[in-house]
Amino acid sequence: MKAIIGGTGVDTLDGLSLKRSMVQTRYGEVELFITDQLVFLPRHGSSHSLPPHLINYRANVAALKDLGVDEAIGIYAVGSISQALSPGEIGIVSDFVDCTGGSREHTFFNGGASGVRHCAMDDVFDASLRERMNILAPHIKDAGVYVCTNGPRLETKAEIRLYGRLGCDVVGMTLATEVSLLKEAGIRCLALAYSINWAAGVGQANVSFIGDAETAVLKEEMTQLCCKTLLSCSN
Ligand code: HPA
Repeated sequence: MKAIIGGTGVDTLDGLSLKRSMVQTRYGEVELFITDQLVFLPRHGSSHSLPPHLINYRANVAALKDLGVDEAIGIYAVGSISQALSPGEIGIVSDFVDCTGGSREHTFFNGGASGVRHCAMDDVFDASLRERMNILAPHIKDAGVYVCTNGPRLETKAEIRLYGRLGCDVVGMTLATEVSLLKEAGIRCLALAYSINWAAGVGQANVSFIGDAETAVLKEEMTQLCCKTLLSCSN
Protein backbone atom coordinates (compact mmCIF):
# COMPACT_ATOMS: atom_id res chain seq x y z
CA MET A 1 0.00 0.00 0.00
CA LYS A 2 1.20 3.53 -0.88
CA ALA A 3 0.30 6.88 0.68
CA ILE A 4 0.08 10.52 -0.23
CA ILE A 5 0.10 12.93 2.70
CA GLY A 6 -1.42 16.25 1.68
CA GLY A 7 -1.05 19.62 3.35
CA THR A 8 -2.10 23.23 2.86
CA GLY A 9 -3.88 23.54 -0.49
CA VAL A 10 -3.93 19.75 -0.90
CA ASP A 11 -6.63 18.64 1.54
CA THR A 12 -8.45 16.49 -1.01
CA LEU A 13 -7.39 14.12 -3.77
CA ASP A 14 -9.57 14.49 -6.84
CA GLY A 15 -10.11 12.09 -9.72
CA LEU A 16 -9.94 8.84 -7.72
CA SER A 17 -12.86 7.13 -6.03
CA LEU A 18 -11.68 7.16 -2.45
CA LYS A 19 -13.49 5.71 0.54
CA ARG A 20 -13.46 7.85 3.68
CA SER A 21 -12.31 5.80 6.68
CA MET A 22 -11.68 6.44 10.34
CA VAL A 23 -8.71 4.43 11.63
CA GLN A 24 -8.21 3.88 15.37
CA THR A 25 -4.63 3.85 16.59
CA ARG A 26 -3.09 3.78 20.08
CA TYR A 27 -2.36 7.51 19.63
CA GLY A 28 -5.83 8.56 18.50
CA GLU A 29 -8.27 8.41 15.59
CA VAL A 30 -7.32 9.37 12.02
CA GLU A 31 -9.50 10.36 9.07
CA LEU A 32 -8.17 9.17 5.74
CA PHE A 33 -9.28 8.18 2.25
CA ILE A 34 -8.56 4.80 0.67
CA THR A 35 -8.52 3.11 -2.74
CA ASP A 36 -7.23 -0.41 -3.35
CA GLN A 37 -3.59 0.70 -3.80
CA LEU A 38 -3.45 4.19 -2.34
CA VAL A 39 -4.21 6.01 0.91
CA PHE A 40 -4.71 9.77 0.98
CA LEU A 41 -4.11 11.40 4.35
CA PRO A 42 -4.87 15.13 4.72
CA ARG A 43 -2.55 15.98 7.62
CA HIS A 44 -4.51 19.07 8.68
CA GLY A 45 -7.84 17.17 8.47
CA SER A 46 -10.12 17.16 5.41
CA SER A 47 -11.50 20.60 6.34
CA HIS A 48 -8.04 21.96 7.23
CA SER A 49 -8.92 22.46 10.89
CA LEU A 50 -5.60 21.48 12.56
CA PRO A 51 -2.67 23.92 12.78
CA PRO A 52 0.82 22.41 12.31
CA HIS A 53 1.73 22.32 16.02
CA LEU A 54 -1.51 20.47 16.94
CA ILE A 55 -1.48 17.77 14.26
CA ASN A 56 -1.42 14.29 15.80
CA TYR A 57 1.57 13.16 13.71
CA ARG A 58 2.05 9.92 15.64
CA ALA A 59 -1.57 8.84 15.06
CA ASN A 60 -1.29 9.75 11.36
CA VAL A 61 1.87 7.69 10.82
CA ALA A 62 0.64 4.83 13.02
CA ALA A 63 -2.55 4.67 10.92
CA LEU A 64 -0.50 4.41 7.72
CA LYS A 65 1.65 1.70 9.26
CA ASP A 66 -1.43 -0.24 10.40
CA LEU A 67 -2.81 -0.07 6.84
CA GLY A 68 0.38 -1.68 5.53
CA VAL A 69 1.81 1.44 3.87
CA ASP A 70 5.46 0.96 2.87
CA GLU A 71 6.02 4.11 0.78
CA ALA A 72 4.68 7.63 1.25
CA ILE A 73 5.09 10.97 -0.48
CA GLY A 74 4.35 14.08 1.57
CA ILE A 75 3.34 17.33 -0.09
CA TYR A 76 4.46 20.47 1.78
CA ALA A 77 3.60 24.13 1.21
CA VAL A 78 6.71 26.21 1.88
CA GLY A 79 8.07 29.72 1.86
CA SER A 80 11.18 30.33 -0.26
CA ILE A 81 14.37 31.49 1.46
CA SER A 82 16.93 30.90 -1.32
CA GLN A 83 16.62 30.91 -5.09
CA ALA A 84 16.44 27.07 -5.10
CA LEU A 85 12.66 27.27 -5.42
CA SER A 86 10.60 30.35 -6.32
CA PRO A 87 6.92 30.86 -5.46
CA GLY A 88 4.79 28.84 -7.86
CA GLU A 89 7.47 26.14 -8.29
CA ILE A 90 7.59 22.50 -7.19
CA GLY A 91 10.72 20.69 -6.01
CA ILE A 92 11.99 17.62 -4.18
CA VAL A 93 13.33 18.31 -0.67
CA SER A 94 16.87 17.02 -0.08
CA ASP A 95 17.17 17.26 3.71
CA PHE A 96 15.72 19.07 6.73
CA VAL A 97 16.61 21.05 9.85
CA ASP A 98 14.23 20.70 12.81
CA CYS A 99 13.63 24.02 14.59
CA THR A 100 10.30 23.05 16.18
CA GLY A 101 11.84 23.20 19.65
CA GLY A 102 10.93 19.69 20.84
CA SER A 103 7.46 20.42 22.24
CA ARG A 104 5.66 18.16 19.77
CA GLU A 105 5.09 14.41 20.16
CA HIS A 106 7.76 13.57 17.61
CA THR A 107 8.87 10.00 18.40
CA PHE A 108 7.42 6.53 18.93
CA PHE A 109 10.35 5.73 21.26
CA ASN A 110 9.78 7.34 24.63
CA GLY A 111 11.45 4.66 26.72
CA GLY A 112 9.61 2.21 29.01
CA ALA A 113 7.47 -0.22 27.03
CA SER A 114 8.06 1.74 23.80
CA GLY A 115 11.82 1.31 24.09
CA VAL A 116 14.77 3.58 23.30
CA ARG A 117 15.91 3.92 19.71
CA HIS A 118 17.95 6.51 17.85
CA CYS A 119 16.74 6.40 14.28
CA ALA A 120 19.41 7.13 11.63
CA MET A 121 18.59 10.20 9.54
CA ASP A 122 21.64 10.46 7.30
CA ASP A 123 19.66 9.22 4.29
CA VAL A 124 16.35 10.88 5.05
CA PHE A 125 14.58 10.45 1.74
CA ASP A 126 14.25 7.29 -0.30
CA ALA A 127 16.52 7.06 -3.34
CA SER A 128 14.20 4.77 -5.32
CA LEU A 129 11.22 7.10 -4.90
CA ARG A 130 13.36 10.06 -5.93
CA GLU A 131 14.64 8.22 -9.01
CA ARG A 132 11.12 7.16 -10.03
CA MET A 133 9.86 10.73 -9.66
CA ASN A 134 12.83 12.06 -11.61
CA ILE A 135 12.09 9.68 -14.48
CA LEU A 136 8.50 10.95 -14.64
CA ALA A 137 9.49 14.61 -14.15
CA PRO A 138 13.11 14.98 -15.37
CA HIS A 139 13.10 18.77 -14.97
CA ILE A 140 11.76 18.84 -11.43
CA LYS A 141 13.77 21.16 -9.18
CA ASP A 142 15.77 20.31 -6.10
CA ALA A 143 14.05 22.29 -3.33
CA GLY A 144 17.12 21.95 -1.09
CA VAL A 145 17.03 22.01 2.70
CA TYR A 146 13.69 22.49 4.51
CA VAL A 147 13.75 24.20 7.88
CA CYS A 148 10.78 23.21 10.04
CA THR A 149 9.51 25.84 12.48
CA ASN A 150 6.91 25.26 15.19
CA GLY A 151 4.45 27.90 13.99
CA PRO A 152 1.68 28.71 13.66
CA ARG A 153 3.10 32.21 13.34
CA LEU A 154 5.28 32.99 10.35
CA GLU A 155 8.95 33.86 10.92
CA THR A 156 10.53 37.22 11.56
CA LYS A 157 12.90 38.65 8.98
CA ALA A 158 15.80 38.04 11.39
CA GLU A 159 14.84 34.37 11.75
CA ILE A 160 14.73 33.93 7.98
CA ARG A 161 18.13 35.67 7.63
CA LEU A 162 19.50 33.21 10.22
CA TYR A 163 17.99 30.14 8.50
CA GLY A 164 19.38 31.35 5.17
CA ARG A 165 22.87 31.66 6.66
CA LEU A 166 22.52 28.15 8.08
CA GLY A 167 22.00 26.83 4.56
CA CYS A 168 18.22 26.39 4.57
CA ASP A 169 16.38 26.92 1.28
CA VAL A 170 12.69 26.61 2.14
CA VAL A 171 10.65 26.96 5.33
CA GLY A 172 7.54 25.18 6.55
CA MET A 173 5.98 23.86 9.75
CA THR A 174 5.29 20.15 9.32
CA LEU A 175 7.91 18.10 7.48
CA ALA A 176 10.48 17.38 10.21
CA THR A 177 8.00 15.91 12.67
CA GLU A 178 6.18 13.86 10.05
CA VAL A 179 9.27 12.54 8.28
CA SER A 180 11.01 11.60 11.56
CA LEU A 181 8.02 9.44 12.48
CA LEU A 182 7.78 7.91 8.98
CA LYS A 183 11.45 6.94 9.30
CA GLU A 184 10.90 5.48 12.76
CA ALA A 185 7.96 3.49 11.38
CA GLY A 186 10.12 2.14 8.53
CA ILE A 187 8.01 3.80 5.82
CA ARG A 188 10.14 4.91 2.84
CA CYS A 189 9.37 8.51 2.06
CA LEU A 190 9.88 11.45 -0.28
CA ALA A 191 8.94 15.10 0.21
CA LEU A 192 7.56 17.31 -2.52
CA ALA A 193 7.62 21.02 -1.67
CA TYR A 194 5.68 23.74 -3.43
CA SER A 195 6.43 27.33 -2.70
CA ILE A 196 3.55 29.69 -2.00
CA ASN A 197 5.56 32.79 -0.96
CA TRP A 198 8.93 34.40 -0.48
CA ALA A 199 9.76 34.06 3.21
CA ALA A 200 9.83 37.13 5.45
CA GLY A 201 12.30 39.77 4.24
CA VAL A 202 13.24 37.86 1.08
CA GLY A 203 12.83 40.04 -1.98
CA GLN A 204 9.58 41.72 -1.06
CA ALA A 205 8.63 44.21 1.64
CA ASN A 206 5.92 41.92 3.04
CA VAL A 207 5.03 38.25 2.75
CA SER A 208 2.41 37.68 0.06
CA PHE A 209 1.04 34.37 -1.14
CA ILE A 210 0.32 32.97 -4.60
CA GLY A 211 -3.38 32.90 -5.53
CA ASP A 212 -5.93 30.08 -5.26
CA ALA A 213 -6.02 29.49 -9.02
CA GLU A 214 -2.25 28.96 -9.15
CA THR A 215 -2.40 26.70 -6.08
CA ALA A 216 -5.12 24.60 -7.75
CA VAL A 217 -2.93 24.05 -10.85
CA LEU A 218 0.06 23.05 -8.68
CA LYS A 219 -2.13 20.73 -6.62
CA GLU A 220 -3.28 18.88 -9.74
CA GLU A 221 0.29 18.59 -11.05
CA MET A 222 1.67 17.36 -7.70
CA THR A 223 -1.05 14.85 -6.90
CA GLN A 224 -0.82 13.32 -10.39
CA LEU A 225 2.98 13.10 -10.10
CA CYS A 226 2.74 11.51 -6.65
CA CYS A 227 0.19 8.91 -7.80
CA LYS A 228 2.25 7.99 -10.86
CA THR A 229 5.50 7.81 -8.86
CA LEU A 230 4.02 5.65 -6.12
CA LEU A 231 2.30 3.31 -8.57
CA SER A 232 5.35 3.01 -10.83
CA CYS A 233 7.42 -0.11 -10.34
CA SER A 234 8.98 -0.40 -6.86
CA ASN A 235 10.79 -3.19 -5.11
N1 HPA B 1 6.89 30.11 6.73
C1 HPA B 1 6.54 28.97 7.33
N2 HPA B 1 5.73 28.07 6.78
C2 HPA B 1 5.27 28.32 5.55
C3 HPA B 1 5.59 29.50 4.87
C4 HPA B 1 6.44 30.45 5.48
O1 HPA B 1 6.79 31.51 4.93
N3 HPA B 1 4.94 29.44 3.67
C5 HPA B 1 4.27 28.26 3.64
N4 HPA B 1 4.46 27.58 4.78
